[in-house]
Amino acid sequence: MIQPPELYFNATAQSYLNNLNERLSFSKLFVLTDTNTSTKCLPALKELLGHSDFIEIICEAGELHKNIKTCSAIWSTLTEHRADRNALLVLLGGGVLTDMGAFAASCYKRGIRFLNIPTTLLAMVDASTGSKTGIDFEGLKNHIGLFSSPVATLIDQQFLKTLDQRNLKSGVAEMFKHGLIYNREHWKSLKEQHLNPEILIADSVAIKIDIVNQDPTERGLRKILNFGHTLGHAIETHFLETPQPLLHGEAIALGMILEAYLSHTCGSLAKEELDEITTTLCTFYELPALSDADRKSIVPLLQHDKKNAANTVQFVGLKQIGEALYDVLYSAEAIDDGFDYYNGITCR
Ligand SMILES: NC(=O)c1ccc[n+]([C@@H]2O[C@H](COP(=O)([O-])OP(=O)(O)OC[C@H]3O[C@@H](n4cnc5c(N)ncnc54)[C@H](O)[C@@H]3O)[C@@H](O)[C@H]2O)c1
Repeated sequence: MIQPPELYFNATAQSYLNNLNERLSFSKLFVLTDTNTSTKCLPALKELLGHSDFIEIICEAGELHKNIKTCSAIWSTLTEHRADRNALLVLLGGGVLTDMGAFAASCYKRGIRFLNIPTTLLAMVDASTGSKTGIDFEGLKNHIGLFSSPVATLIDQQFLKTLDQRNLKSGVAEMFKHGLIYNREHWKSLKEQHLNPEILIADSVAIKIDIVNQDPTERGLRKILNFGHTLGHAIETHFLETPQPLLHGEAIALGMILEAYLSHTCGSLAKEELDEITTTLCTFYELPALSDADRKSIVPLLQHDKKNAANTVQFVGLKQIGEALYDVLYSAEAIDDGFDYYNGITCR
């Protein structure tokens, strides 16, 4: 059984760190950072930790480094510093770092404790809750991984001060998704507050946790959190290999437009709601057109989606804004029409 992690926000997250050793009594403390969070976020963490000594492990930033090679380097450093099973690994970073660091911690000596301190909006509202850990493998997103929970997730919004606008907007995509699949009011609030999404973080996290708690290991309902991700992950993977990679949230925004179109043409999503979703997302994000060559590379990647069963690609559809369905099948022709629809959108 996956235990949902304890969650602390802002002041309570800070006081958790002030008393870290008394709370968790670890043998050694390690802090995993990337080349950006090491300079931008570690100074604030050091202040909160006070006199606690720790060993920093720095990895390269970005999705291209979310792989077994980086994990191997993390395991080597832990071994070199004789981390035992009572060591604690603090994960200070965005979703790439929390996914990969959690995976590395969960495998080291069959599992050491780890603590999530998400520093991007995307990691705060999505990646650092829900206990999915993992790395990319042979070009496939999150292909190797396991469910494993941190001892706690500490969401301290002070870390967002140094995050650039593009990454902030990338995080809003997962918040939009939470509204679209589960809570119409959240979608509406975000449309009004999208320039100030920080005030809706706790609401967005609450939606994610409510869904995860009903189905921790994704046998049914939890699949709806993958809305936009079936095509979005394939799109993200495809563009990762190009000179213009997309951020995770941008790829998911594009995936949500395509999957909303499919929900309309092959399901019950009303045309006005499709238009509302498309207009909102394509005015908020700068998204690329998709050439025939892009399509040819993206479509085969759908075969590797983790939700697939019996050789079929299973999608999440929207019944209406605020309500989603899972295990939905679409024909290859419908998917192709979706790309035509997307390329024809005038607001892009
Ligand atoms: N486990 C899950 O449930 C889940 C859910 C959604 C997404 N994800 C994963 O999350 C990843 C995307 O996460 P992300 O968007 O946070 O990407 P990321 O971790 O690559 O962070 C984005 C960039 O911001 C930098 N950064 C991080 N914090 C910063 C700060 N406070 N100030 C300045 N720069 C900072 C990072 O170094 C990086 O360059 C993807 O790999 C995706 O698959 C996982």
